[in-house]
Formats: sequence, C-alpha cells, structure tokens
Amino acid sequence: MSTAPLPEALKLAEGSAFDIGAVMDVMEASFDPVFGEAWSAQQCLGILDLPGVWLIIAWWDGAPAGFALTRMILDEAELLLIGVVPEHRRRGIAQSLLDATMETARAKGVRHLHLEVRQGNCAIELYNRNGFHQVGRRRDYYRGGDGSLFDALSLTKPLLRDFK
Ligand SMILES: CC(C)(COP(=O)(O)OP(=O)(O)OC[C@H]1O[C@@H](n2cnc3c(N)ncnc32)[C@H](O)[C@@H]1OP(=O)(O)O)[C@@H](O)C(=O)NCCC(=O)NCCS
Repeated sequence: MSTAPLPEALKLAEGSAFDIGAVMDVMEASFDPVFGEAWSAQQCLGILDLPGVWLIIAWWDGAPAGFALTRMILDEAELLLIGVVPEHRRRGIAQSLLDATMETARAKGVRHLHLEVRQGNCAIELYNRNGFHQVGRRRDYYRGGDGSLFDALSLTKPLLRDFK
C-alpha cells in the first residue's frame, strides 16, 4: 500500500518509558472501558522494559494523538496496541502508525506481524485494507458492558515477500 504524505501537524517518533504520560493520555481517551482492552501504566512500563518491544507515538501539533506498541520475539512480531484519540480519528494517523510499525518490523527482519482484535471493532477495516488475514478465532473472548460476548479474531500479515 502506498504511503500518503503525512499532514504537516503530524509527527511520528519512537517513544520510550519516559513517554508513559503521553501513552496513558491516548490510552484513556481511545479505548472504550467497557471492553477492558486498555492497559494500565504499570503493564505498559513492564513491557517497555523487555527486549524486542518498540513504541511509536503520533504527535499532533506537539500533543499526543496516537501510539502503536509492538513486541518482536525471534522473527515474529505482535502489534499489541494501537490507538488514536477520538478528536483526531479518520486523518490517517493509525495508518501512519501501522506503516511505521511495519517498516520498523521489516528492518528488524520480522516475517509476520500478528494481532488480535475484537470482532466488530472498526479497526478490522484498517487491518483488512493493509493485507492482514484471519488465522484464528477465540470464541466469546471479550465481554461488553451489557454482558454480551464478542469473539477475538487473530489476524496476521506476512512482511517479507517469501512468506505467506
Ligand atoms: C481503530 C483506530 C486506531 C483507527 O484510528 P484512525 O487514526 O481513525 O484510523 P485512520 O484514519 O488511519 O484510518 C485508516 C483506514 O482505516 C479504516 N477505518 C478507520 N476507522 C474506521 C471506522 N471507524 N470505520 C470504518 N473504517 C475505519 C478506513 O479504511 C480508514 O481509511 P479512510 O478514512 O480513508 O476510510 C481508532 O478508531 C481507535 O483508536 N480505536 C479505539 C482503539 C482500538 O480499538 N484499537 C484497535 C485495537 S486492535
């Protein structure tokens, strides 16, 4: 997929544990608490300490607007979290974060990028258009606020040309 030029106001930068405040601002604004998908600051700091983990933060006019957190193990990687604050959605920020994540992953020699997403999440549209395909399903993995259950879908995308 071709990468559109980034809006002037948008800057992507590698983040670290020092950016935990920015990450948590985006986390709290982005993830619907009903599904319990958001991570705590402690969980984020714990994973940022591990080898093979990288964080990309999207800054809009200097304020945190989104982030993507990825973990690589051997030559496979998982996109653990991606979120964009509601006021900046549909401006291509998640697409830019995903592009940057895939570029970094390829540079590190990652063969496949994996992720898990709740069935019905609009993010599935983003993943579909980026060539992810479904490889698994965990039935009734998420519970909504009203007790309704949602499957978790496992998606994957080959990043190196030789792998399917
Ligand atoms: C999913 C999410 C990250 C998308 O962020 P975003 O910056 O608005 O996405 P983009 O603007 O880069 O969208 C790129 C494409 O993805 C698809 N897309 C994104 N949001 C969509 C929506 N609400 N409905 C349908 N398609 C959507 C579209 O194809 C879109 O292209 P278009 O705007 O030209 O139609 C954001 O809605 C979010 O933070 N959601 C809550 C957190 C979450 O659920 N994260 C995913 C966990 S797996």
